[in-house]
Amino acid sequence: MKISLILLVSTFLMMLNCEKPKEEKTINTYIDEPHSYAKPNEAVITHLNLNLNVNFEKQIVSGIATYDIQNNNASEIILDTKYLDITDVQVDGESTSFTMGKMDETLGQPLMISIDEDTKQIAITYNTTDKTEALQWLNPQQTADKTHPFLFTQGQAILTRTWIPIQDSPQIRITYDATVKVPSELMAVMSAENPKEKTEDGIYHFKMKQPIPAYLIALAVGDIEYKAVSERTGVYAEKSVLDKAHAEFSDMDKMVTAAENLYGTYNWEQFDVIVLPPSFPFGGMENPRLTFATPTVIAGDKSLTTLIAHELAHSWSGNLVTNATWNDFWLNEGFTVYFEIRIMEALYGKERANMLALISRQDLEDELESLKDSPNDTKLKLNLKGRNPDDGMSSIAYEKGYLFLRTLEEKVGREKFDAFLKSYFKKNAFSTTNTEDFIKYLNTNLLEKNNITFNTDEWIYQPGVPDNAVTVQSDAFENVENTLKKFIETNNIDVAATNQWTPQEWVHFIRNFPKDITIDQMQKLDETFDFSNSTNSYITMVWYEQSILNGYHGHNVDAKIEQFLTAVGRRWYVTTLFKAFKNSDRVDEALVIYKKARPNYHSVTVKSVDELLNYP
Ligand code: BES
Ligand code: ZN
Repeated sequence: MKISLILLVSTFLMMLNCEKPKEEKTINTYIDEPHSYAKPNEAVITHLNLNLNVNFEKQIVSGIATYDIQNNNASEIILDTKYLDITDVQVDGESTSFTMGKMDETLGQPLMISIDEDTKQIAITYNTTDKTEALQWLNPQQTADKTHPFLFTQGQAILTRTWIPIQDSPQIRITYDATVKVPSELMAVMSAENPKEKTEDGIYHFKMKQPIPAYLIALAVGDIEYKAVSERTGVYAEKSVLDKAHAEFSDMDKMVTAAENLYGTYNWEQFDVIVLPPSFPFGGMENPRLTFATPTVIAGDKSLTTLIAHELAHSWSGNLVTNATWNDFWLNEGFTVYFEIRIMEALYGKERANMLALISRQDLEDELESLKDSPNDTKLKLNLKGRNPDDGMSSIAYEKGYLFLRTLEEKVGREKFDAFLKSYFKKNAFSTTNTEDFIKYLNTNLLEKNNITFNTDEWIYQPGVPDNAVTVQSDAFENVENTLKKFIETNNIDVAATNQWTPQEWVHFIRNFPKDITIDQMQKLDETFDFSNSTNSYITMVWYEQSILNGYHGHNVDAKIEQFLTAVGRRWYVTTLFKAFKNSDRVDEALVIYKKARPNYHSVTVKSVDELLNYP
């Protein structure tokens, strides 16, 4: 949390200097931060102006980052950098010498710049290098339309420092504006006010007037077009994807309305989504005003658009009220999953929400199993000092966070819980909170007020799942389980029972195959339902996982798995499949595929799969 201290310097100065009273000066107090070198209590950036050129031939972003700063009597300001080539630093317009600290493999290098008490601005001229972790440069073959190259950035958690020298802590918020020059056949978009058409000269101007943390600064450049869904929502995509994306996301405006009804005004004016090429390492990334999304959510039937609800929900939990450090990551993701499922319930009803809640519960059980040797990582509040924040970003934050909030909701009742959440977002808007502040706020404004006792500390500071977790029930999923059980027992699949199934029900069906399902049974299911050729990426992903685990090779599935892994870079999908190979002692096969697929992956996916397969 930022505690605002009002320093009444005016009286003091008047006495000393007989000057005119000065305005009250606000100083923010930032808490200890394990993943940034910045010392914001001493000197902090407040606004960024970027002037960049994007060079696809050399695969370099270069230019000048100019910062307005607030100096609280420090003699230097420290920024985070990693793998950047810094060529010049100016302080209030004068070139000056600067120092780079020791290189740390996770955190990068601090950049120290001498300043004095009157310093208003610093300007850093730099180039990105071929080691940049945030940027992925794609050749035309890696895009949907195959004619132009593409570039996108991924900032969360601590990668922004690899394409902009910056104070890269979620506690530090800045406004920004940018001028970006790209090849004139391409369009550039950012997490900011965006163009809707290409310009002739390839020069684009951006403005983000609400203060945001560094991990939310984002840029994408490609041969993209815009199509509005409503006045305040729309999609960017390559030409061949645009109409499909537009149809898939046609409920976007309804989602914004549902979200506003729950937790208050949408504070970012515009809510657009850009559909990126398939190597994008996440399902979605909540860059403000412009969510970045994987094309694998386009299923043709809106069945995977919960992802849009999720990224939209971050406009409150995460972007408006931000986790103070990555140890508090569950505040971003747990709240967002809770909020996402509430949005889905508002739009599509309770049964859909219950299915999502149960999928979440199963994800949690799987994650607890895979973390059984590191119980500390199953706590909500983490201690990631000395580790890469990415290591702590497991399903625990999402699914245990969700279960905690859902259990709380049932304990206090929805009406009180909603009022509480609404006031929490309002109170902390455009600010940060940590776990301890949240607990205090919860105790004062919800629990004590209503005379309710709750084992909050156990949920947050202890491993595993407390006994009082609510049981989530879904009639639809029970029906799925019965159909599966009957099939396993009789070898006869009740096709009529499956006729109306949604993709979520199919996923549940496939994920819950018993360990001893036979190859013949898999073959029969594939013949009947053609899972190997499903157009729903979630269904194919879990089907491929089962195929790998059970040694099923029918219907050319091996070639399809390889094709999927070389085309798609979504980390969750990719690691699920490589884990399946590993768990069935087929690492050699995995490595053959990985060698081909690796050049198509973004650095965050590469890092995860390298670790998983001990590569190289
Ligand atoms: N903010 C996350 C993505 C992220 C997490 C990036 C940690 C870097 C570090 C995003 O909101 C997210 O959770 N995406 C999920 C979507 C899902 C839960 C609907 C994903 O990518 O799978
Ligand atoms: Zn999220």
